Order: sequence, then structure tokens, then C-alpha cells
Amino acid sequence: MSKKIGIEDLRSRKWFMNPDNPEMTALYLERYLNYGLTREELQSGKPIIGIAQTGSDLSPCNRHHLELTKRVRDGIIAAGGTCIEVPVHPIQETGKRPTAMLDRNLAYLSLVETLFGYPLDGVVLNIGCDKTTPALLMAAATVNIPAVALSVGPMLNGWFRGERTGSGTIVWKARELLAAGEIDDDGFMELVASSAPSVGYCNTMGTATTMNSLAEALGMQLPGSAAIPAPYRERGQISYETGRRIVDMVWEDLRPSDIMTREAFENTIVINSAIGGSTNAPIHLNAIARHLGVPLDNNDWQAIGHDVPLLVNLQPAGEYLGEDYQHAGGVPAVVGELIAAGLLPYPDVITANGKTMADNCGDRRSEDTKVIKPASDPLKPQAGFINLTGNLFDSAIMKTSVISDSFRAKYLSNPDDVNAFEGRAVVFDGPEDFHHRIDDPSENIDEDCVLFMRGAGPKGYPGGAEVVNMRPPSYLLKKGVEALPCVGDGRQSGTSGSPSILNASPEAADGGGLALLQNGDRVRIDLNKCTADMLVPLEELAERARKFEAEGGYDAPESQSPWQQYFREKVGRFDQGMILEDADKYQDIARTSM
Ligand code: FES
Ligand code: MG
Repeated sequence: MSKKIGIEDLRSRKWFMNPDNPEMTALYLERYLNYGLTREELQSGKPIIGIAQTGSDLSPCNRHHLELTKRVRDGIIAAGGTCIEVPVHPIQETGKRPTAMLDRNLAYLSLVETLFGYPLDGVVLNIGCDKTTPALLMAAATVNIPAVALSVGPMLNGWFRGERTGSGTIVWKARELLAAGEIDDDGFMELVASSAPSVGYCNTMGTATTMNSLAEALGMQLPGSAAIPAPYRERGQISYETGRRIVDMVWEDLRPSDIMTREAFENTIVINSAIGGSTNAPIHLNAIARHLGVPLDNNDWQAIGHDVPLLVNLQPAGEYLGEDYQHAGGVPAVVGELIAAGLLPYPDVITANGKTMADNCGDRRSEDTKVIKPASDPLKPQAGFINLTGNLFDSAIMKTSVISDSFRAKYLSNPDDVNAFEGRAVVFDGPEDFHHRIDDPSENIDEDCVLFMRGAGPKGYPGGAEVVNMRPPSYLLKKGVEALPCVGDGRQSGTSGSPSILNASPEAADGGGLALLQNGDRVRIDLNKCTADMLVPLEELAERARKFEAEGGYDAPESQSPWQQYFREKVGRFDQGMILEDADKYQDIARTSM
């Protein structure tokens, strides 16, 4: 460790050891003594380390952090620090209504205020369940005190009658079995519960495994930290190491802005493609980047990530689960394979342990090539996203690698242009409207149709709903039509086989082009040119826009809570990270203020 700062530079000294103001020092100090901390722990020059605690009874995915934090504390104390556990607003993906996404910015906001306003020199970020990871990294970005993330780890593999059952994905399977009469309601429950056999977060490559892997890809976790399953002994051991390391990071003055550079984000986009990461990743990464003042947008995701091959064979896109990912080497093996193939753009960026990506992972390779493929033998050649634009929206993301062969054959093999299709728009205003109308024969939905979902973006359905991947009407399903093209201003959960165009920005409720689309319009989507347009004459569109304005804009449902209202007033677009729009003017605030 090369010490860059001394005791007198510790931020916490302003509270606990301020020679200019002994009275305030006494006042700040006395209440932290009242539960047993000693003056020695607070005043002798030990860094005060916050542990941002996202675990609670309300947050089962992250609850095991309550146990792991004991090892983090041991590490902090062993390295000469003092720890203070900091509660974080809970975000449980499967428990929060209407959506946990709404709470990402709330947890961000409150953690910024906490890290900034209290005597903390560094922080351990207890990440895990989907939105906890971006919320904590965003807060660390804004405050910019030394920070290291610690995953709670995925659950053990789920099993049912000899087959792996993965979080989330098993629910779709269970629905089919229930519909076919092969299981009853209790069987349904048993099957679904089998996918959650232990503490930890979702064991599939959903948003949680994606974001925890990307926290390591960014350099914000110790190498190898993301994939260790929650109950493994290594999880406790890396918790201890993480606690030790944050104390050194304080002395080295190694801050989020030193680690999460533009180069680190470019690496992370590549790694996201290689792991088959979630379409929620661009929203979260663009948000973290904005809070650091690092330029990053959806064009970068296409330019840097689209051609990167898929290496990780995890459900729902593949076969395996979290334990297999760990046994195959986790993120370091993926990064090592990418470096070996010359695909990682910046192997020399610094990471939380003070070493570079190449130092940490350059020699690592897959330890099970069924689960993590080498780049020479990938699962898919192009696993990233494309970024579409047109008169329907400025930006929307599509994961082209999930388009099935049968869908390609049906919609994309037009002899004139193999990657473009036209269709008739069927427009739904929110998920309730979809459920009402999708099976109504008078809608005349056929294979020529493109399904549109609007009113499902950050403002329209506060936080954005995961509803864009819509099923075809049941009468088409019975005919064997498994998917229709879907477009929308909401999000999509996990990886779905449906070829959806997601996160359309600006959303209808923000005056985006989708608001002007009418049922029956012809639309054209061109995956080569990355365009999506309604084929409506300009004068007609101008007339619709006038009418839309005159009628007071998009008719979104009422807010149900104060936060929903404030969120909608301040929130920005998905493609720009869905952050609170004026929050990114506050950067590096631990150094620039106080
Ligand atoms: Fe929490 Fe999936 S629901 S990680
Ligand atoms: Mg989700």
C-alpha cells in the first residue's frame, strides 16, 4: 500500500477531532460513545468506515449481508479502521409495488445524504438484489469517498427432480405445466420455491447477476467477488478481505472516480455482452456514469458492445446457474478469456484492489468450458445491443441475439432487405389495456402486426414497468405464432425470447413520438440501419402533435404517493440513465464541499 494521505487528512476528523472547535467535537463524539465505542476508536486516527447495509427482513435477497457484515467488520478492525453500519432504504425486487425501479433513485438520494453528512472516510457497499447495486454505485459516484462493493452472492442452484431450476425462469415453465394439468397449485408452489434453495440473490443471469458482475467489471469489487454463492465459505472470506481492503483504499485515497473512468465503462460494456447481461444494464450504467460526469450513451453500447460474443451459458438464455458460474471461474475467467482474445479494450485500468484488470485476470481462463466458453468458440457471435432511432423515439435498445431463427425467417428474410420489416401497429396504453384487449378478436391482430406498449416509462408508470415483451393473442398462439415484434417505452424482465425493442426514450408520457402513434398505423423497423419509424406523413404527424398538446399531453395515471409525484417531476429518460435530472450537477461532493 502506498499511503497518499495522513491522519490529518481524514474526513472524519472534521467531526471527531476538530482542533478549531473542541465543543462541536465533543458534541459530535459523545453520542457515538453512548453505545460503547471508545474515544480511541474515534479519535486516534483510525479511518471510519461505513457499511451501507441493504440487508433486512424486508429484503430477502440481500438479507445474508447481515451475517457477512460481521466478517466485513472483522476485516476493517484488523486493518486498523472503525466501522459504522449505515441503513439503506430497502429495495426488494420481488416485493416492492408498483416497481422496485422506483426506489433506485430514492435509495440513491438518501445514501448520498448519509455518506455526505456523516463522519465517514470510506464505505463498503452491500450490493445484491437488482436495483441495490446501481443505487449504491450511483451514490458512491456522487459523493466520491473511497468505496468498495461487496456482493451478497447468488443463491445455490435450484433443483427439481434432477433438473436445475433457476430464479424467475422456472415460473414460466411452471405456468406451462399448470396450464397443461401436469401440476396443481401446490405443485406450482413447490416447483417455484425449489429455485430459491438458500440465502442470496437470483441464481440466473437476470439483472442481479448482471449488475453484480458489472460492479466487478467496473473494478469496484475485489476480483472474484461477484460470483461466489452466498452460503459458500469463500463468501465470508472475501467479506473479510473487502473489509481489510477499504481501510487501505482510504489511505491510498483511491476513489470511485479513479476507478470508474470512461475506459472502465467501455470494458464493462464488453463484459456485459460476454456474460449475456440484462437490458436493464444500459439504464444503470448510464446513470452511474452521469453521476461521475463520464460521457456514456446508448450509441456507445452498440458501438462497443454489439459485436462481442456471448461466453457465459447461464439461464435464462443458456443452461446453467450461479454455482456453475462460480465453478467455471466467474467474472475473472470471463475477463481473462476476453483479454486473451484481445477483446477487452482497456486491460490496464485500475481496480479496487489497487491492481489492474490484467494483473487480476490476465492469466485466468474458464475452468469449465460448458459454462464459460472461450472467445474462439462462443455461444453466439454478437451478444450486445443495438440502439434504434426514428420518429417513434430517439433511442431504444434491442438485444438482437435473442431473436429466434424462426422469427428471423418469418419477419426478417425479406429478399429486398433481410433485416427490415413493416407491420401494422397495435397500440396499448399500459399493461392493463394490454390485458383487456389482447385476446379481443375485434382487434384483428395477425402476423402482420407489431405490438406497441406505451405509458410504461419512468414518468408514465412511475419507475417504468417490465411489460414490453407481450405475448401474441391466444388465437395466434394456438396457430403456432409464438412471438410478435414488440416495441415500448417500458422495460423487460430478464432475457426473453421475444424480439423486443425496449426502453424507448423519450417515453409517451414525456411527449415522445410513441404518443402520436395510432392503432393501425404502418410502421417500419430496420435492424441494419437501426431505425424505427411510423409511416405517417409529416403534415399528419404535425397535426397529431398539435392535438396532443392541446389536449394536455399523455394521460398517465395519478401518483399514489409523495415519492411517486416527486420522482415523476424530476426523473429523466431511460437512455440517459433515468436519474433525477438535476442531481448530476452535484459531483465529487465529499471533496468539493465542506
Ligand atoms: Fe432479488 Fe432477483 S429478486 S435478485
Ligand atoms: Mg426485474
